[in-house]
Amino acid sequence: MQISEVIGKKALQANLADYEEACRRFDWEDVCKELTFFDNGQMNIAYNAIDRHCKTWRKDKTALIWEDEDGHRKEFTFLEARRITDKIANLLKGLGVQKGDRVFLYLPRLPELYFSVIAAAKLGAIAGPLFSAFGPEGVRDRLGDSEAKVLITTPELQKRVEGICKDLPALEQILLVGGRGPLGPGEASFEAEFEKASELFRAEPMDPEDPLYILYTSGTTGRPKGVVHVHNDMISYYITSRFVLDLRDEDVYWCTADPGWATGTVYGLFGPWLNGATQVAYEGRFDPDQWHSLIERNKVTVWYTAPTPLRLLMAAGEPYAGRYNLKSLRHILSVGEPLNPEVIRWSMHVYGLPVHDTWWQTETGSMMIANYPAMPIKVGSMGKPFPGVAAAIIDIEGNELPPGHTGFLAIKPGWPSMLRQIWRDPARYREYFRVRGWYVTGDTAYVDNDGYYWFVGRADDVINTSGHRVGPYEIESVLVEHPAIAEAGVIGKPDPERGQIIKAFIALKNGFDPSEQLKEEIRRFVRERLATHAYPREIEFRDSLPKTRSGKIIRRVLKAWDLGLPPGDLSVME
Ligand code: WTA
Repeated sequence: MQISEVIGKKALQANLADYEEACRRFDWEDVCKELTFFDNGQMNIAYNAIDRHCKTWRKDKTALIWEDEDGHRKEFTFLEARRITDKIANLLKGLGVQKGDRVFLYLPRLPELYFSVIAAAKLGAIAGPLFSAFGPEGVRDRLGDSEAKVLITTPELQKRVEGICKDLPALEQILLVGGRGPLGPGEASFEAEFEKASELFRAEPMDPEDPLYILYTSGTTGRPKGVVHVHNDMISYYITSRFVLDLRDEDVYWCTADPGWATGTVYGLFGPWLNGATQVAYEGRFDPDQWHSLIERNKVTVWYTAPTPLRLLMAAGEPYAGRYNLKSLRHILSVGEPLNPEVIRWSMHVYGLPVHDTWWQTETGSMMIANYPAMPIKVGSMGKPFPGVAAAIIDIEGNELPPGHTGFLAIKPGWPSMLRQIWRDPARYREYFRVRGWYVTGDTAYVDNDGYYWFVGRADDVINTSGHRVGPYEIESVLVEHPAIAEAGVIGKPDPERGQIIKAFIALKNGFDPSEQLKEEIRRFVRERLATHAYPREIEFRDSLPKTRSGKIIRRVLKAWDLGLPPGDLSVME
């Protein structure tokens, strides 16, 4: 089914007016001409995102509108953003941070978070944004693996991870945002240091291949992987924000994602600012009234969100949208999980606009497949590959499959924002390129006769809950630390609202009995240690779990159990 309303006057004015034509002409080199490079091909993404605009009329344009759920609001122009990020860069330099050092950010969505990521990049340090829902084990794994030198956090979050510092020998300094209490050794007040820091900082000229940030993401097995991106990514961020988000100077743009996730870092920070766009950041929980009033108050025009909040808005019902004037909206997009057709139909009805699905991953750095404003939407499809990106559906040997056949979604390596390494783990990096000539995404999909891509599923056991990517291994490792648990296996269980929920199958140690109370205790155990977003909503006790002869839990069988299906071939079982 096509929504023909999408093709209209609006589409003719889109930044990408003709998709087919753009694909024919597209050249990454042309994109570079729209960005600033220093001598010898050196560059700095932070210079391009902020400083560059201060040489034009945009210096007095609003760069960031920040709000929280308690009604606080701040605005910053590009000139103010430049001054602040210069000062933070000087502050970090004063603490001894050098090019290549890791500066991690464990912060709520405060202006300091956004500006510190930019400041770290200005200085050539590697930023590490961490989702503030993580608990001590989640934070310790990431700080430990990256050997972070500086951690910027708040006193409240610091309290949550108390006790991990002894396991982090590389961590030298903790900067506390909003800290008024006494400071311990190795701690400093962000505000006090900020006051002292000098004003001007010249963005460090970087080699395009120099690391920019590390975002940890999950695979099927093992600890989270540190996906490393580089300054050269800016080429992809800039042009995808222009063509897919369709950002223009008069827009007010809101990305609902936290910078602890790829969407928040790339499209809630760098991408829009590379285009000189005004963006909104909101620190608060999901709430239909808060969200809609934020759009109304700020006259948001372009909105990048995800299927789960859209489904929750849909479930909250029309009255919520009806109470607000949302006429400012002109373009809505979504990412992170399959976007179901009902949501698009509902959005047409309530906002008068379809939702444009986009597909990409932490590893791809930028949108790879998308629906463009000037292209008809096929409801339920992820859209078509970005110009300059070669996607395909392949089999296990790397042969391209014809339309209609489900296979592995793969991309031809070489786009500017492709991951450059898994931090200190070359073997896990190579896994992505195990099929010669391709970057293998881990998703399965098919392409139709018109070149539209359709998502089918994950080829591995990675869980996608509310658009958050969660590795079963991380949760299983925490579960087996619980005194009552002998074995644990974790799967994603289909859920109408959240896409998937986390379900744990648990075998208890002798002497422990299943009970609702124990389930609740186990949930709390995971929330407090790992993360408040990644705990098993559903728990099922079993006498024992299916394992291979080498002792690995067979999640395939757990999934079959959950669906009440036959478990399939059990010949490898213990
Ligand atoms: C899934 C988020 C269906 C997919 C930017 C992918 C999607 C993983 C879509 C990456 C979509 C992302 N439709 N599934 N439009 N977009 N995914 O790294 O499984 O957190 O591999 O990046 O989310 O998650 P990640």
